[in-house]
Amino acid sequence: MFGSTATLPSHAPDTPPQQASGSSHQTDNSQSHPDTDRPPYQTGQTSYDDTETQEDEEAVAQAEEGGSIVVDSDDVGTDAGYESDRRTSASTSMASSVRDYAFENGRRYHKFREGRYNFPNDDVEQEREDMKHAMVKMLCQQLHFAPIGDHPQEILDIGTGTGIWAIEMGDQYESANVLGIDLSPIQPDWVPPNVKFMVDDVESPWLHPRNHFDYIHSRHTVMAIKDWPKLFRRSLEHLRPGGWMELQEVHHFPSSADGSMPADHPVAQYWALINQGLANLGIDFHATGQGRLASMMRECGYVNVAEKVFHIPIGTWAKNRVLKTVGLYWRTILLDGIQAIALGPLTRGCGWAREDVELFLVQVRKAYHDNSCLMYMPLHIVYGQRPEANY
Ligand SMILES: C[S@@+](CC[C@H](N)C(=O)[O-])C[C@H]1O[C@@H](n2cnc3c(N)ncnc32)[C@H](O)[C@@H]1O
Repeated sequence: MFGSTATLPSHAPDTPPQQASGSSHQTDNSQSHPDTDRPPYQTGQTSYDDTETQEDEEAVAQAEEGGSIVVDSDDVGTDAGYESDRRTSASTSMASSVRDYAFENGRRYHKFREGRYNFPNDDVEQEREDMKHAMVKMLCQQLHFAPIGDHPQEILDIGTGTGIWAIEMGDQYESANVLGIDLSPIQPDWVPPNVKFMVDDVESPWLHPRNHFDYIHSRHTVMAIKDWPKLFRRSLEHLRPGGWMELQEVHHFPSSADGSMPADHPVAQYWALINQGLANLGIDFHATGQGRLASMMRECGYVNVAEKVFHIPIGTWAKNRVLKTVGLYWRTILLDGIQAIALGPLTRGCGWAREDVELFLVQVRKAYHDNSCLMYMPLHIVYGQRPEANY
């Protein structure tokens, strides 16, 4: 364990070079490695905690759009360190929940409004969602960006999933009632007293009072929502004047920090097919990109709309220790979910047989381990406010 008195020399070897503005990435060829290069802890001017904080801050600055993720030149080859050939184990949860769930292609799905959402809700998927939460928190270092003040009263989390974000918000804001809504009853029973969950379809009319919520939040629901303008309008009606809505959405298409990814890269092909399958099912997976969510919010009447974009590395190619871990998490999340993500869009949306999906996934799994293309996906944080005056 790191003692609180442990220190590093102030000339920490991982300090990234000054970044040229507008450049997309930089390669550090110094052969140093953030884990192996660190000298034994010794007395000096910078404490280990300070160095960690500095690295956290550098991670945010490098990941934010317009910044530049410094590449670890030791880690841009093919990384075989992680294998995920795991097949589904949906049957493990069958006994306890057979009445509430539907089963398809060996995975468990929601039963309420069956078929509405195209991804599983079984234990494997829930673990993956919680890991995604940890990854986003590590990258953003906060649960929300909208300036909701210190004492929000009513918070709504749309598509709450396992409820992990809602529970942590309940802990952080004891003043608030936090309500999480989802199609699936997969939230824990033991939660803070100010947190509640409800099974409902957020794209159906809401029973909540109008002019009520201080803050409405939704994260990782771009693969679920069919009608964003309608959801924005409904949220606006149910926010109190001055209340905030925030979305945290990944644009699920791999970009390459140095433009080296060929169009026929299996990971790009995979996401193009998922996009096609979802489009056939009435969902626009590209809604996150090109400032579209922010534009829709403005058109709907929100004010003070802001957007922040963070680049999530896929794999371990980033030099910064935090971003390297974020990249490892994200690749693990994508690999663990490779089948869960593909099955619904490709079987329901494109008419593929399950066997064809499995066959296709073999090459995609391998391709995820190729660090050389410096792959990343952008995470879009978009928030806006209901005007104070009646609209
Ligand atoms: C990818 S998960 C994200 C979970 C959570 N927001 C998080 O970030 O940890 C998407 C969730 O949205 C839920 N969902 C999808 N469509 C929905 C709808 N129409 N109404 C309510 N929940 C929905 C799904 O059941 C799923 O739990």
